[in-house]
Amino acid sequence: MSSSERFQPHAATAMASMFDDVSGRYDLLNRVMTLGQDRAWREAMWGAVPADAHIVLDLCTGSGVSLAGLRRPGRVVLGVDVSFAMLEVARDTQGGPGWAPRVACADAFHLPLRDGSVDAVTVAFGARNLRPRPAALVEIARVLRPGGTLSVLEASAPAPGPLHGPHAFWVRHVIPLAGRFSPDPSAYRYLSESIFEFGAGPEFERDLAGAGLEVAARRSFLFGATRLWVARRGPAVGQYRAAAPAIVRNARSAGAALPAPASPPATEADLWRMAQAALAGALTLALGWALRMWINVNAHLPLTTLQRIMGWALLLAGLGLFATRCLWLLLRISAGARGR
Ligand SMILES: C[S@@+](CC[C@H](N)C(=O)[O-])C[C@H]1O[C@@H](n2cnc3c(N)ncnc32)[C@H](O)[C@@H]1O
Repeated sequence: MSSSERFQPHAATAMASMFDDVSGRYDLLNRVMTLGQDRAWREAMWGAVPADAHIVLDLCTGSGVSLAGLRRPGRVVLGVDVSFAMLEVARDTQGGPGWAPRVACADAFHLPLRDGSVDAVTVAFGARNLRPRPAALVEIARVLRPGGTLSVLEASAPAPGPLHGPHAFWVRHVIPLAGRFSPDPSAYRYLSESIFEFGAGPEFERDLAGAGLEVAARRSFLFGATRLWVARRGPAVGQYRAAAPAIVRNARSAGAALPAPASPPATEADLWRMAQAALAGALTLALGWALRMWINVNAHLPLTTLQRIMGWALLLAGLGLFATRCLWLLLRISAGARGR
């Protein structure tokens, strides 16, 4: 399957084949490339789904990592994806005692759902793969009931600003490098290119508006590397809302804080934080050791002034960053323990 085929409109077969190939290691690599933050971002997406949404569709559900977090008493959660192998992973990993995920293999452009039959749609890291995007959003709007909510979590392109350089470097070079550990490295080159193609946000918001979806809230994570949009489908033509139910917030409250995310079970979240804190601590120690070496030897190295400055900057910034992260994680773990 050539890489360019994946960028063609309605490339469901190419998409299914690519994600079938990477399904085995997808979740692990996803976690590494999001620096372990994807769980927190998903929590924000789950929290953006109105509590009384009865039928929720997780589109491009992949291995179903978002399904369990969407569960609520009395709610029906359906995961749809075009890759059968990803759905098999969902079936094998997401079930639990008394619960199995409901999944269906289907193309996002031809959803097997009636008009207005869904209260909320979530799409995590999937919107980028849907071309042409305006048509995909029209199909989502079709299945959403008037006033229904769409929450989209997506990796976005570097926005202009001071972090444009490091963010672009991460997307252009680090992601394809990490993909070398995948059975299909070209899938990660695709990921990198598709992030740039997706844009930094304004383009997506234009397409949302074109499909009749009004942005109600937006959030940015990791300095804009990932963004969350919450949009509402407007009332259908000829229909008027007699009263605004709690789930339909005024679109003019753009930028309003999102509802509090549902908390994951404390032990799982804490274990994950401990693992991250241990990693950040180990990196802090390694960078501290490297800084000591650097202080001793850098004067004797044949480096230009710029290279010397870059060396100092990288070591000091890295040390500061990982030390702060380690401390922050330890504070969160101890705050969680006090709260229980
Ligand atoms: C990057 S994965 C995201 C999976 C999951 N939502 C997550 O958060 O990890 C993108 C998913 O979109 C699916 N996909 C791509 N094109 C699709 C289409 N036309 N219809 C349905 N699913 C599609 C892929 O099969 C893949 O599982």
